[in-house]
Amino acid sequence: MGQDNNIPMEEPARQFYFMELAGKLREDKEKKIGRALTYHVTTFGCQMNARDSEKLSGILERIGYTCTEREEDADLVLFNTCTIRDNADQKVYGRLGYLHGKNQNKKERIIALCGCMMQEPSALEKIKKSYPFVNIIFGTHNVYKLAELICIQAESGHMVIDILKDTDLIVEDIPNLRKYPFKSGVNIMFGCNNFCSYCIVPYVRGRERSREPREILREIERLSEDGVKEVMLLGQNVNSYGRGLSEDIDFSGLLREVEKVEGIERIRFMTSHPKDLSDDLINVMKESNKICRHIHLPLQSGSNKILKRMNRSYTREQYLLLAQKLKREIPDIAITTDIIIGFPGETPEDVDDTIDVINKVGYDGAFTFIYSKRSNTPAADMPDQVSEEQNKREFDRVLKRVQEVARERAALRTGRIEKVLVEEINSNDPGLMTGRLSSNLVVHFKGDESLIGQIVDVKLKECKNFYYIGEMIQEGKN
Ligand code: SAH
Ligand code: SF4
Ligand code: F3S
Repeated sequence: MGQDNNIPMEEPARQFYFMELAGKLREDKEKKIGRALTYHVTTFGCQMNARDSEKLSGILERIGYTCTEREEDADLVLFNTCTIRDNADQKVYGRLGYLHGKNQNKKERIIALCGCMMQEPSALEKIKKSYPFVNIIFGTHNVYKLAELICIQAESGHMVIDILKDTDLIVEDIPNLRKYPFKSGVNIMFGCNNFCSYCIVPYVRGRERSREPREILREIERLSEDGVKEVMLLGQNVNSYGRGLSEDIDFSGLLREVEKVEGIERIRFMTSHPKDLSDDLINVMKESNKICRHIHLPLQSGSNKILKRMNRSYTREQYLLLAQKLKREIPDIAITTDIIIGFPGETPEDVDDTIDVINKVGYDGAFTFIYSKRSNTPAADMPDQVSEEQNKREFDRVLKRVQEVARERAALRTGRIEKVLVEEINSNDPGLMTGRLSSNLVVHFKGDESLIGQIVDVKLKECKNFYYIGEMIQEGKN
């Protein structure tokens, strides 16, 4: 393989070459063992990772592996890891240990690790030392290279490690296997330049780079042709989309273009950094029939002292004005958020400020996290790290308030008829279907499988805290 002069240098042609080669290796092995080789991809972390996993699965399918539901049975197990908080790392170590304990005799099994945790030098060292049975390790910048790494590993028989510190390269047209036929994430940018002082993402995902608008639109057009009705535009800070591109385009400009794609009925995006949210974006949302009435607008803290130390570049007053403006201009909008409890130097009074913002904004939902120290981030060296005991107490206090407010907000929709994208059969009751409102709220209602992927009218009958029990309104009947 190393001497083959026919290996293309250009991407993605090079990877298609390796997908074919890996396919031949798989066929040989299957003949030898007399059965199909299986794979399982386990995803940790955020929507970005979920989308990367769809690409990884796409590559494995192209090679000809068969998907299996059971991780421990698979011939190729791939963990796409996250390292946003320490507990994300711990989960991966736990799963690796478990997997190794199971089926120790499965000598031929390939275990591959990729994703954000692999970009962290200390985690990588630990894996090399304590988990030497891992076969392939790669990072966030070379997801597209899986087939090539499989071939290299097959040839060498050793642990293959391929980590890039950063990259400008965006490889287009890699196959992908979508989890849902009717909705899909679409990367519009990669990396992050914001360096919030607690956050590891800029270190493990590299510098911010936007995808060319024509590539994004081409992907969305193809998705639409393939039956996709809802797209979720993905980036760590979608509001800064377009910086560094030769074309003069920003996020609202991109949204205007996505809106024109026929067949796409719903557009979502994630995540909006409050510091870059423009009036133009609010106007585009307001005028659009397709952009969902939901914005995820991470607050992190409601205390100016903490926001400053976090390097978030906005004050509580600016945030509140923004939330007010959103609600005034788009009255139906649901606002959700992320909150960190226990950032270094945080006092119960600072948490009071956070709760005050929760009350004033009236969030439809919030993810609350206890601060987790990430090595080499500025916050890790800050004095006044908060005690576990205070964290636990303050976390419970915030969570309680967040839940009360979200419950009140959800209940306001009782009796309304709303459009619902039907997503799946309810996992607890097969007579019920589960779908989402434009606001992202979940509703369960009587229906059958044939509705999956359709947008239907549902009357919201009974609010069960954070979701609804509804009734589908047949066409022509109200
Ligand atoms: N780019 C997004 C956030 C991505 S990370 C944004 O800026 O909003 C998702 C969430 O994880 C963050 O919003 C934050 O609330 C949380 N988070 C990030 N680093 C953390 C840390 N070190 N400890 C606890 N929570 C953290
Ligand atoms: Fe992390 Fe801040 Fe970038 Fe979000 S904007 S990914 S919180 S550094
Ligand atoms: Fe985790 Fe990486 Fe996402 S650290 S939250 S998977 S960008």
